Amino acid sequence: MQKRAVSGVGLGLRSVHYDHVLSRRPAVPWFEVISENFMGPRGGSGGRPLEVLAKVRREYPVALHGVSLSIGSTDPLDFDYLKKLESLASVIEPWIVTDHLCWTGAHGKNLHDLLPLPYTEEAARHVAGRIEKVQDAIGRSIAIENVSSYLSYKHDEMAEWEFIARIVKTTGCGVLLDVNNIHVSAINHGFDGEEYLAGIPVAAVRQMHLAGYSEENGFLIDTHDHPVSDPVWKLYAAAVRRFGAVPTLIEWDEHIPSFARLQKEAAKAKEVQDGVCAAAV
Ligand SMILES: [Fe+2]
Repeated sequence: MQKRAVSGVGLGLRSVHYDHVLSRRPAVPWFEVISENFMGPRGGSGGRPLEVLAKVRREYPVALHGVSLSIGSTDPLDFDYLKKLESLASVIEPWIVTDHLCWTGAHGKNLHDLLPLPYTEEAARHVAGRIEKVQDAIGRSIAIENVSSYLSYKHDEMAEWEFIARIVKTTGCGVLLDVNNIHVSAINHGFDGEEYLAGIPVAAVRQMHLAGYSEENGFLIDTHDHPVSDPVWKLYAAAVRRFGAVPTLIEWDEHIPSFARLQKEAAKAKEVQDGVCAAAV
């Protein structure tokens, strides 16, 4: 397995591109996969998808990105799920394990959406405690991703970036900074994306995401079905200036284009990284 340090701009590994990746071994520095797609019903035995992933992993570093942790929920943590995640990670040896700073359900019901949390002291303590339990259960640290949001709570006590900084300080977890999500939420809620970046601890940012959004009735929706937009490229350049050229992923999950088109988008992100780093010398 590849053990080299991870850098550059990776791509999401999607089933439509399995054959291309396995047969052509394209020049991509690393892949990100959705963890749940490779977990079988028992102990992480994920059938053919896992066989494909194991082959890909022999050639490329892999990031495990989950969507089911529901770290902010008040339901008990799902230790069966964590056992599967631990088992998958022990097979794949990912360079990073990530999930979202959100809740996805309550009272045993899954709402299949990444819902924002109230940014309160109580919620920060709740999430931090659960992150520590997750990290203990899977035996590795995780990074949490900021989600896009379309609502906020009347009883918020702090900004989203302060909430994240508090959790990082308590748990030592990393941050997966989704720059598109920052821009989407900034427009929807009327805050400044660069102020958000300034509030995130530099050393905590281990990965970034870039994606495309849609617009509906003046709101931005995080649809992952477009190229990265100009304002997000601008915010990404500001993020690279603050956090450095941390590994970045192009997320494109709907209307998935050709692999060559994805590589073109990744090349654009690499150009931004290189441009910012050259200017900083
Ligand atoms: Fe993301």
